[in-house]
Amino acid sequence: MDSFLIRGGSRLKGRIEISGSKNSALPIMAACLMAEGRTTLKGVPRLSDIDSMNKLLGELGCHIFRHEPGTLTSGGMGPSLNGPLDITVTDEHNCEARYDIVKTMRASICVLGPLLAKRKRAVVSIPGGCAIGDRPVDLHVRGLQKLGATFHTEGGNIVGEVNGRLKGCRMYLGGAQGPTVLGTINVMSAAALAEGETTIVGAACEPEVSDCANMLNKMGAKITGHGTPEIRIEGVERLVGVEHRVIPDRIETGTFIMAAAITNGELELKHCNLDHLLAVEDRLQEVGVKITRENGTIYVSSSRRLQPIEMTTQPYPGFPTDLQAQLMALLCLADGISVITERIFPDRFLHVGELNRMGARIRKEGPTAIIQGVKELNGAPVMASDLRASAALVMAAMVAKGTTRIDRVYHIDRGYEKIEQKLMSVGADIERVSETGRTSVTVAA
Ligand code: EPZ
Repeated sequence: MDSFLIRGGSRLKGRIEISGSKNSALPIMAACLMAEGRTTLKGVPRLSDIDSMNKLLGELGCHIFRHEPGTLTSGGMGPSLNGPLDITVTDEHNCEARYDIVKTMRASICVLGPLLAKRKRAVVSIPGGCAIGDRPVDLHVRGLQKLGATFHTEGGNIVGEVNGRLKGCRMYLGGAQGPTVLGTINVMSAAALAEGETTIVGAACEPEVSDCANMLNKMGAKITGHGTPEIRIEGVERLVGVEHRVIPDRIETGTFIMAAAITNGELELKHCNLDHLLAVEDRLQEVGVKITRENGTIYVSSSRRLQPIEMTTQPYPGFPTDLQAQLMALLCLADGISVITERIFPDRFLHVGELNRMGARIRKEGPTAIIQGVKELNGAPVMASDLRASAALVMAAMVAKGTTRIDRVYHIDRGYEKIEQKLMSVGADIERVSETGRTSVTVAA
């Protein structure tokens, strides 16, 4: 397993190209199972989670082809880091998402709705828990049952079947912690091929839901209201493959904004959409982070002294839970006491212990963390636990005194494309060390 060695003290300065959104690409790739012919996706990042989804779709009868970078056909807009990804459905016999793929990537659950709608059967291993807490799928199942699917569990799998064609209906899909992002996408995707009209009340409003709806509409679906808590879908008979560019990764964007702030640097982030981060901009302005924008570029700098704030994670358009750990790292150096409350995944605090090892002063009280700002952090050996906690540790390490070794960086490889190259290119002192202690050569992006 690889580690990062990071020497603190560099102020990040320069330009970073934001990649396409992992959390948009994954459900969009699954939705391609419903299209006849080839779909070409642009802006899909090269990440281990994307590799897992490619493997899963391959087992579900899809031919996957990644073009070389630089083969952009739409006027050079958007990240040129990677070439387009072609997904062509060639065989619809297999309907099973195996455990050893699902256990590494929870988003495999995204194939449930498309398989039921198109192939009338789906066998998906029940996703286990993960570092941020339980990851139930009861809302996915309940929503698809309301469309007429029947389910039973068998050997750790969810087995879903449809007799004939799914039938649209009006349903409520919210849960105790609010809407479900992937559950909304699963039900919306399945409803696109159902008979009649479906209305999802209590739908998730995340930009990733809208991005998938926009692609489905290009394929021939009739979806309206996406991005609001009430989505209406008029079922159609068939969907056909199209070209689509996934939206920029708002969580990567927010992570680099806070990385600039914690190092008191100045970054220019290209190909991103600040409209997807208004709640983050609101909170960070109160901290003293200066954010301006021009077209698709964000300019970030920060005042020397950071101010403490309160923040509670919320469903979109509120402050995203996926940026909670990164904000906590930033607030470790604020002038006073900050309070973070996690409403989406109340156990999502594994980064607290690791930040405290670096000299932070954070106390957990149930779903709330109290952060007493300190003057400085100190480098230490720490361990990554989940994708976003890993990013928080990288941020803290870049500003800590001395060297930090972060183990198990495979977590970060799941969701941050070329992160050490991007950070090196703006002045971070970071290197990837393999288990054998060899430093892998990483060329700046
Ligand atoms: C998506 O997960 C994201 N993953 C997560 O990002 C993100 O944290 C989450 O949305 C919330 O924004 C992808 O898009 C691949 P949910 P998802 O269903 O859809 C409860 C990252 O770091 N719930 O919106 O699985 C659930 O326990 C990842 O990139 C049920 O109770 O999350 C949670 O408390 C981590 N029953 C809340 O709803 C269900 O059937 C929101 O979960 C489903 C969810």
